[in-house]
Formats: sequence, C-alpha cells, structure tokens
Amino acid sequence: MTSKSFCQRAFWRRKEIVGKCIRNISVSSHQNYAQLPRIKVDMSESVSKTFGEEDFVPKKHPGVLFRGRVCLPSEFTQTAKKILGNNSMKVKTKEMIEFEKHLKGRDLPIEPRAYKEMCIKIEERVRSKEEVMEPFFNAEQLQDLENRRFRETRELVKRLVYHWEPENYSGRKVLEYLMLRSDAEYAALYKIMSEISKRDPDFEPVSLLDFGSGLCTSTWAANAFWNKSLNEHLCVDTSSDMNDTAELILRQGKRDKPTIFRNVFFRQFLPTSPTRQYDLVTSAYSLFELPSAKARIEVLNTLWRKCAKYLIIVEYGRYPGFRLINEARDFVLRLDRPTYRGADGHAFSPCPHDAVCPRFHEDIHACKFSVDYRSMIPFDKQIFKQELFSYVVLKKGTRSPKEPDWPRLLEEPIVRKRHIICRLCLPSGNLKETVVTKKGVSQPMYRATRKSQWGDMLPVEEIELTNSSDSTEGVDVEETEQDPKL
Ligand SMILES: C[S@@+](CC[C@H](N)C(=O)[O-])C[C@H]1O[C@@H](n2cnc3c(N)ncnc32)[C@H](O)[C@@H]1O
Repeated sequence: MTSKSFCQRAFWRRKEIVGKCIRNISVSSHQNYAQLPRIKVDMSESVSKTFGEEDFVPKKHPGVLFRGRVCLPSEFTQTAKKILGNNSMKVKTKEMIEFEKHLKGRDLPIEPRAYKEMCIKIEERVRSKEEVMEPFFNAEQLQDLENRRFRETRELVKRLVYHWEPENYSGRKVLEYLMLRSDAEYAALYKIMSEISKRDPDFEPVSLLDFGSGLCTSTWAANAFWNKSLNEHLCVDTSSDMNDTAELILRQGKRDKPTIFRNVFFRQFLPTSPTRQYDLVTSAYSLFELPSAKARIEVLNTLWRKCAKYLIIVEYGRYPGFRLINEARDFVLRLDRPTYRGADGHAFSPCPHDAVCPRFHEDIHACKFSVDYRSMIPFDKQIFKQELFSYVVLKKGTRSPKEPDWPRLLEEPIVRKRHIICRLCLPSGNLKETVVTKKGVSQPMYRATRKSQWGDMLPVEEIELTNSSDSTEGVDVEETEQDPKL
C-alpha cells in the first residue's frame, strides 16, 4: 500500500467519524436543548476593539484554544517501541482489545449504602413475584422459602449490581497499558495544559506532583510546555512495575542514563504533609482506581492541600468519568457542603463559572471533550485516533476579573447555510443554545463562530434572553442545507 493511499484512507475515515458525531448531535442532544430559551450574543466589546476589520483572522480568534493532532515526543515513542519490541509486543492482540474495552467500560464502585438499598429493592422484587401462602407453612417449608429467596436475591444482585475490582497494573499489563493508553492520555493532558499555558502565560511551574502517575504522561506533557521552569517531579504510583517502566522510558531505555527531565522522583504512597506544595498537581485516569467515594475524597483533599496553583483532574469521557470529575469539582469548590463556607479556589477550565454543574444536574449527557492524536502502535490499522475525556482544572485563589468569562462550546457547532447553532455553558452557570445568524451579529463575530470548534470559548457577551424565534430572525431553522465546510 502506498503512503498516499494510506493517508487518503485515514482522511476519509476521519471524515466519517466527524460526520457521525454531527449526525448524533443533531438527533440526540439537540432535542434536549431545543426547548430552552435562547440567548442573543455578540462579540465581547474588549475583543472587538482589538480587531481591525482587515487584520482579523477568524480561525485565530482569542477563544480558540487548541488545533491540531497530538503526537507523543519521539524520545518517548522510540524507547517505548524498543521496550515493546524486546517483549515481542508489536500488534494489538485480542486480549489487549478486551483489556482496553474493559478499562473504558468500567463503572464506579458502588457505595455501601447504595448497595444495601439495592439489595433491599431486589429482595422486595423477589418477594413480590412469589405466589405462596406463608401463614399455612410449617417451619421446614418456611426455611425452604427463606433459602430460595436468599438464593434468588443473591443471583439477581450478582447480575444487576456492578462489581468493581481493583486493577492490577503489574507485569505484562504495564506493557499493554503502555501500548494501548499512553498516547491517548498524553494527548488529553497536552490539550489541557496547552490551554493553561495559553491563558496564563505567566505561569511557570517549578514543581509537579502526579497522583497515579503510571507511565508519567503528565510529566511528559508538562515538560512540553514548561521544561525551562520545571525542576522537580514527584510521581506517585502504588505499582512498582509501572514506576520501573516509566523510569526506564525517562532514562531512554538505559538504567545508567540520567532522566530526560530534571529531578524525577518516584513514590508508592502519597505524602500527606501539608508543608510541601507543588505548583502543578495532576490526577489522570487515576480516581477510577480508588475503591470508594471516601477514599477519593481523602486523596482529593490531600491533592488540593498540596496544590499551590493548578490541579488537573482527567477521566474517561463517559458518564462514570464525568461523575468523578463532578464529584471532585463539587468537593474543591465546596458545593457538596450543606452550609457553603467559601472555597479557596475556582474552576479555571472548562467551566466559566463556579456554580453547580448544569450539565450534571439538567442534562443526560456527560460533559466531555475530544482530542485527535497519532497512535503510537507502528502497525495500527487506525493511525489517527480521537480520545474523549472529561476534565476539570481548578485554580487556587479567586477568579481574577482579568480572566475572560466567555461561554464554552460544549459540542461541535452545527454550521448551516446562514446560521450556526452553538450549545454553550455560560458564566451564569446555565446551559443555553444560541443561533448565531449572519444578519443578527457583526461580521467578525459570525466568521469567528464559524471557525470555532467543540471546546473553544466564544469571545462573546450575553446580550439577552430571547424566544427561540427572535434569535433566528431571517433564517429558516428547518433549513437542512449543510454548509459546504462540512
Ligand atoms: C489508569 S492508570 C493511570 C495512568 C497514568 N496517569 C499515566 O499517565 O500513564 C492508574 C494508575 O494509578 C495507580 N494507582 C492505583 N491506586 C493507587 C493509589 N492508591 N495511589 C497511587 N497510585 C495508584 C495504578 O497503579 C495505575 O498505575
């Protein structure tokens, strides 16, 4: 196969994925938002002032956060491929595909109270189906009945309740994890960190703490942006095999070589002393590994205490991952307390507000984002992939008035002929849909919106709440003609 035909195949595959996403948006989530009142928006005054009509480049408007495809650094991939090659791992086996599916499809451990309630409900269901005349039973018959009930309830509990088990990251599992997940996790972290570095150019972290560090993708991603300033990396992971492999990659495959980044230390347990703080604290895909909400809150408490500036939490972009992100956000912003006592931090990204998450409370979809990346596996059928992730970046201190409080695009905007439909999370803590029409807003605003993508911020001011018909003035909303851009 020539490289051209390969690239063409990749291109058409990507088009297919994008097309599918857009079709899904149109039929599923659109129905949820369609009933909501719409908002009228126009470019924020501060932004419109900075653009002369001529030098305005719509695809580089200030709300654009990240474009492009992420690729692991060559130092990482070369060593990783050597390690995998030495262990005769070159292609994905069936077991590895199963392992990947299992990781992505996991649910959260059920809490003891919820488990008890579920068992009671199931027992009631079993009883309600019985057609027996208990009062006429003798002791032996009653005992039989009890035993049968117990057995049936136990079987149903086994079938209906998700049984979470801790994952054992040791031996070959570590190599499988390296092959299956390191590129995707690096890509998600890279995208999140690129937003921090863009929106806060003065941030120069000196120290990094990574909880559940695994293969140190956080360390690699952080050094892509702040290599000059980072001088200490503390990687915490209970698995010594993970730590050994991560260290070997950092030492470029040779144990006697120095690590590629300055001062990388490995620990198996999270240090709890509050005296030492780290500028950047991360937990990537690790909260899923903890057995209960209590254990997660204890870890989050320690991570937040140890954080001097930014805490990044990332999980899979599915509902259970989103639940973990929301739990962490609520805990740090103290939204889970009956008596609110004021938080010592705020949500930096993706939320433009510190209120309870409207997506969690009003919507049935997980709040997730996407990043395109290049697969690390040399002979992967699909070389360009997409990772979906849920995340939150929490920053110490109060929200600065200098930080723009622009709405966030929660889905890919739907571009039609003379209008664009955007689903936004607003600084007021609400979810709203807006239809940006060619006639209804200034030209730079219209062009900037056309070039915006899922996850970007829209540099706009909310103008007013309107009926859905007002904001679509001059446009046939039913019009199905798609923009040629799609
Ligand atoms: C899904 S992996 C995360 C991968 C990692 N973030 C990376 O960049 O490769 C979860 C990691 O958390 C570690 N882990 C599980 N329980 C832990 C705990 N209580 N403390 C620290 N690490 C833990 C596991 O050993 C595993 O390496």
